[in-house]
Amino acid sequence: MRFLLPIAILAFCTIFFSSSITKNQVAKNALVVVGDEVPTLPDSPYDYENDGFPEHLLMTNWGENDSTILDVVTNDGATLGRVLFYDEILSANENISCATCHKQERSFADDTRFSEGVNVDTRRNSMQLNDLGWTNRAGFFWDMSQHDLKDMVRLPLQDENEIGLTDLEGVINRMIATDYYPELFEKAFGSSTISMDRIQMALTQFISAMTTFNTKFDQVQRGDAFFTAAEETGFHIFEEACGMCHTDGQSFMLPIFNGNTNDALNSTPFLFANGLPIENNDIGAGEWSPEHEGLFKAPTLRNIEKTGPYMHDGRFENLEDVMKHYNEDAVEDGWGGVPAGGFQFGDEESDAIIAFLKTLSDDTFTTDVKFSNPFESGVVDVEKPNQELTTSVYPNPTNSWTAIYFENPSGRKAEIVVRNIQGQLIRKMSTNNSQLNIEVSQWGAGTYILTIKVGNLISEQKLSVN
Ligand code: HEC
Ligand code: HEC
Repeated sequence: MRFLLPIAILAFCTIFFSSSITKNQVAKNALVVVGDEVPTLPDSPYDYENDGFPEHLLMTNWGENDSTILDVVTNDGATLGRVLFYDEILSANENISCATCHKQERSFADDTRFSEGVNVDTRRNSMQLNDLGWTNRAGFFWDMSQHDLKDMVRLPLQDENEIGLTDLEGVINRMIATDYYPELFEKAFGSSTISMDRIQMALTQFISAMTTFNTKFDQVQRGDAFFTAAEETGFHIFEEACGMCHTDGQSFMLPIFNGNTNDALNSTPFLFANGLPIENNDIGAGEWSPEHEGLFKAPTLRNIEKTGPYMHDGRFENLEDVMKHYNEDAVEDGWGGVPAGGFQFGDEESDAIIAFLKTLSDDTFTTDVKFSNPFESGVVDVEKPNQELTTSVYPNPTNSWTAIYFENPSGRKAEIVVRNIQGQLIRKMSTNNSQLNIEVSQWGAGTYILTIKVGNLISEQKLSVN
């Protein structure tokens, strides 16, 4: 993520970064429009406060777990964090939020191999965000190059391809102008002042409240449920073959790191190689520590059933593919944690491991309203199949600009995504109007695919640039 330079399409940037367009002031020919949404929040905040690390997980195979959560989570702080997490107003183009790549139903991972960023797809697979509060300082990102959760939530905010919050002052002014932020900051921090530091603290509190202690595994540990025979078998094989990296026997989070630690190398014991051949030139931790080339974070396996595709580059679509890797496809990686040629479990054992992994799923977490998008009304839409949107693009072919026209009588948010013929993301835009003019002179000759989506109406159009 940090390594991707955005494809700067200057003409566009000047339009999209322009702070002169406010949410109430929609230009006539509608180049950019911002959603006029206000979050719906409960009268008294949901309960996010942590009751401490659950007792049934306190004793781990690694000894007593004396982890402490980084920030004290308050209900008002986490509520503000929730709004920030879902609010597109923070992004340069006002069309992206943390939730664009971190989806609740996926335990806050993404359902695609790489996520669509502001300009290009991310370089690595988006990571799930459950249970991170308790692993603070162990290391974040696939290469564990970050060591403090509070520090690291700033990175996606400022990454030009993620949230792209490059103009902090402009964004803070936008936030002050909303009906909701001054009050939310006041409640969370005692005054309505908005600062990057407070934004980080609130996001960290929201993420720290994301725990998955309602899995079947937890119920078994508490004596409230029993494993099936397959799950039990899977658990034992797991402890022997996988547990040394995917610790810690009891909680399946990262080893809790209680040391002090800005010393980056302190966290290397938790970096591993698992027999994957290097692809896409991604050498993981080798990028910040040459002697750790090829090592990656072994992420928590809590909610793993929901977070596919898997591995740092999302190369495996499902858990069966992951098990095929550990079973037979692993290659010599020079670290010896997973034998070349895999563990050779056989089908029955592989299935048992998968059955066990599924006991680590917490459905209450992925459906809990307190982690859901406050900008979506509480009414759940019955899912309807996508229907065709009536659209036209003119002029087409073009070499300078074109206009996209579509039905949007009630002024809903229309999303327009442009990809080239190889499927690479070129541009993402949104408007609440029924027309969007776009400048294409910098795109290069070729065919582009425009996807226009308004609610559940969708249309795909080809655009030729000559
Ligand atoms: C464009 C997609 C995208 C957006 C937007 C995005 N992320 Fe991420 N996030 C990623 C990817 C990809 C990774 C893995 C990056 C890597 O390892 O290099 C990641 C990793 C993380 C991690 C590390 C998790 C771990 O286990 O180490 C955290 C925490 C995180 N993101 C929080 C956020 C927050 C908070 C926001 C909003 C301020 C956000 N992200 C916005 C794609 C995104
Ligand atoms: C030597 C350490 C090691 C061992 C042993 C190991 N893993 Fe892993 N595992 C890792 C690392 C490191 C990653 C991330 C690798 C990457 O993305 O490049 C990983 C990734 C995974 C993932 C994907 C995680 C995600 O969020 O995409 C799953 C699932 C998984 N391992 C399951 C298992 C199972 C099941 C076993 C035992 C059969 C096992 N692992 C054994 C180190 C290990």
